[in-house]
Amino acid sequence: MREPLTLQGGNGLSEIYIESGLFDRAGVVIGQAFSPSRIHIVTDSNVAPLYLARLESQLAFPVSHTIIPAGEEHKHLATVEDIYHDMLAAGITRKDLVVALGGGVVGDITGFAAATLLRGVSLCQIPTTLLAQVDSSVGGKTGVDLPEGKNLVGAFYQPRLVLIDPKVLSSLPDSTFADGMAEVIKYGYIANKTILSLVAQPNYRDNIEQIIYECVKIKRDVVAIDEHDTGLRMILNFGHTIGHAAEKLGNYTALTHGQAVAIGMAAAMRLSALLGNADLTASLLPLLDHVGLPSTLAYDREAIFDALLADKKKFGGTVNFILVREAGRAEITPIETDRLHAYILKL
Ligand SMILES: NC(=O)c1ccc[n+]([C@@H]2O[C@H](COP(=O)([O-])OP(=O)(O)OC[C@H]3O[C@@H](n4cnc5c(N)ncnc54)[C@H](O)[C@@H]3O)[C@@H](O)[C@H]2O)c1
Repeated sequence: MREPLTLQGGNGLSEIYIESGLFDRAGVVIGQAFSPSRIHIVTDSNVAPLYLARLESQLAFPVSHTIIPAGEEHKHLATVEDIYHDMLAAGITRKDLVVALGGGVVGDITGFAAATLLRGVSLCQIPTTLLAQVDSSVGGKTGVDLPEGKNLVGAFYQPRLVLIDPKVLSSLPDSTFADGMAEVIKYGYIANKTILSLVAQPNYRDNIEQIIYECVKIKRDVVAIDEHDTGLRMILNFGHTIGHAAEKLGNYTALTHGQAVAIGMAAAMRLSALLGNADLTASLLPLLDHVGLPSTLAYDREAIFDALLADKKKFGGTVNFILVREAGRAEITPIETDRLHAYILKL
């Protein structure tokens, strides 16, 4: 088995294993890393019928579970409370283990429950979407949404173990796989252009394990420098600034998150060219199309600007924008809101 990637976080060391077929050895790896009295698994209503019994049957500890309804609309505090009740009813103590088995929604909610119940129970992430494998399961951001906005309540809490098996992606709908590819392409442009060459291959899915490995390495390196998102970690938001604005204008239903990020990356590239940098849209647009993602920003530019300002943290009249000057290198660029307004109108 390949050596795990490691990440030293505020609440301890995180070990990240990436290997095809790993899911069917999860029980062994968990048994080597932990000696809990019991394990509580949290999963969702889509993932449970596919993978829950396969995981439970491998675990040599008393196991309980919570199956939450699938979907972002359930990523709220009431779901966390249900999980707390199930964990306490199962007799979970601080010496035990919580496993998040699912996509980013399950990972974020379960991570938050693990961070807060009894002030912290050990956590293992087993991500089952591409987005969760390359992004949300690594780095320790956990949390839930409020009616006022997404991810407004949360905690930084590193999982002790992350088990990534690309094979579990075979059951994903194509559009959900494509959503994860938006994050993959993001990593390529911000930090490693080898990822872009791998994605450009006709059968890029055959290389998905290597692609995931390269992406996770970038995320690990960025989080190791800026765990609490006060500086460098912002580069992971490439494409997300205009992407979030488009997502919001589509009432979170017209576009998936990955589609919005794809459109946001294309818009950020055009904006970068307007600022005098090399125009990278000629390489980005065909790549997005190749993996089944859109690139056209179909919303009124004034509305995009308004949504962007409402969403973005402004620092004294500027918005921090992530710009890619050459494939594999991103920079955090503050742009004054007046100038940004003029550029957005030209996109
Ligand atoms: N914590 C972080 O750093 C971070 C980073 C990025 C995104 N996020 C969060 O991640 C969430 C999005 O995650 P997501 O895109 O994984 O969405 P998701 O968890 O809703 O999963 C997408 C869909 O796929 C289903 N599914 C999951 N695995 C499957 C499998 N193997 N086979 C078949 N179906 C499967 C799920 O039930 C769901 O219907 C958002 O809430 C976002 O805020 C967090």
